[in-house]
Amino acid sequence: MPATSLMHTPPHPLRISFCARTDPQPWFDALRQEFPKAQLQAWSSGAPPADYAIVWAPPQQFFDEQTQLKALFNMGAGVDALLKRDIAPQLPIVRLNDAGMAVQMAEYVCHALIRHTRQFDVFEAQARTGLWHEPVALERARYPVGILGLGVLGERVARAVAALDFPVLAWSRSAKQVAGVRSFCGTDQLPAFLAQTRVLVNLLPLTPETENLLNRSTLGQLQSGAYLINVARGRHVMEDDVLALLDSGHLAGAALDVFRTEPLPPEHPFWRHPRVTVTPHIAARTLLPDTVAQIAGKIRALEAGLPIDGLVDRSRGY
Ligand SMILES: NC(=O)c1ccc[n+]([C@@H]2O[C@H](COP(=O)([O-])OP(=O)(O)OC[C@H]3O[C@@H](n4cnc5c(N)ncnc54)[C@H](OP(=O)(O)O)[C@@H]3O)[C@@H](O)[C@H]2O)c1
Repeated sequence: MPATSLMHTPPHPLRISFCARTDPQPWFDALRQEFPKAQLQAWSSGAPPADYAIVWAPPQQFFDEQTQLKALFNMGAGVDALLKRDIAPQLPIVRLNDAGMAVQMAEYVCHALIRHTRQFDVFEAQARTGLWHEPVALERARYPVGILGLGVLGERVARAVAALDFPVLAWSRSAKQVAGVRSFCGTDQLPAFLAQTRVLVNLLPLTPETENLLNRSTLGQLQSGAYLINVARGRHVMEDDVLALLDSGHLAGAALDVFRTEPLPPEHPFWRHPRVTVTPHIAARTLLPDTVAQIAGKIRALEAGLPIDGLVDRSRGY
């Protein structure tokens, strides 16, 4: 055998650990297709060391024991919970890059946007009482859609909303060029972005900079009769401020998928608010086949010494 083909031959079969509160068997079945010889293990304390781990919300003990990992794969796009753990600084953390989530996010946001602007919620209520009433037609230009976060998910959402001919603005850390989207960046440009937004879509990662960003002051800068769609994280939003702005009429309504406390407690006023739509953190689900295919491709690249995308920058927090 030539020396070059020996270079990347691992000394033992790949060892992949799985640590998530979900049945590992379907994941193992899919991973087995990708890596027939790999040792697959559902992590429990005392498990042998692994080369790679696929995790969702692992306990600290997992990191204390699994000290030989070459990379850690998060089963989602958001790493805010993971970064609260004490993780060896040199261990690469890889987030999911779309993996079938972006189109789901686009569906969710377009549904909430259309339901509000075309007043389907009103028609549902009218239908229950047999009322036939035609509202005035929608003027799209009166509903500029502002997207907070123009990353993997935000950009897909922006393109879907732009395809429906709504004016689209987006705010991110760095300036962007996306067809049909007006880009704003940095804290300096946040007020101008908010002042020109009527439907606000939150797709930021949760970091120390973005926590509590959506509060009485920032939401108060939106156009009057604004609508909030939060599909990122509950801790971006000061929930009492949202309720106050709904009551004052500044906010016309909200579609909320994520909350400060999940599951949303039964006594929470959002459940019964007539202008709030609650969904149980389902805007974009992790899809097993897409996720395993993406992670397997990245494991192969890493084993071959090739670069991968989706690496988390811990100093930025996302
Ligand atoms: N509800 C659900 O079911 C669900 C499912 C999946 C994900 N999520 C949430 O969606 C979030 C976004 O996912 P993604 O894959 O699109 O993330 P991403 O690719 O990391 O994009 C994040 C975007 O936010 C911007 N950003 C970050 N910090 C900022 C700051 N301080 N000021 C201004 N802009 C800032 C980034 O700017 P730059 O481009 O300049 O870096 C980037 O455009 C995840 O973090 C997760 O919390 C929710």
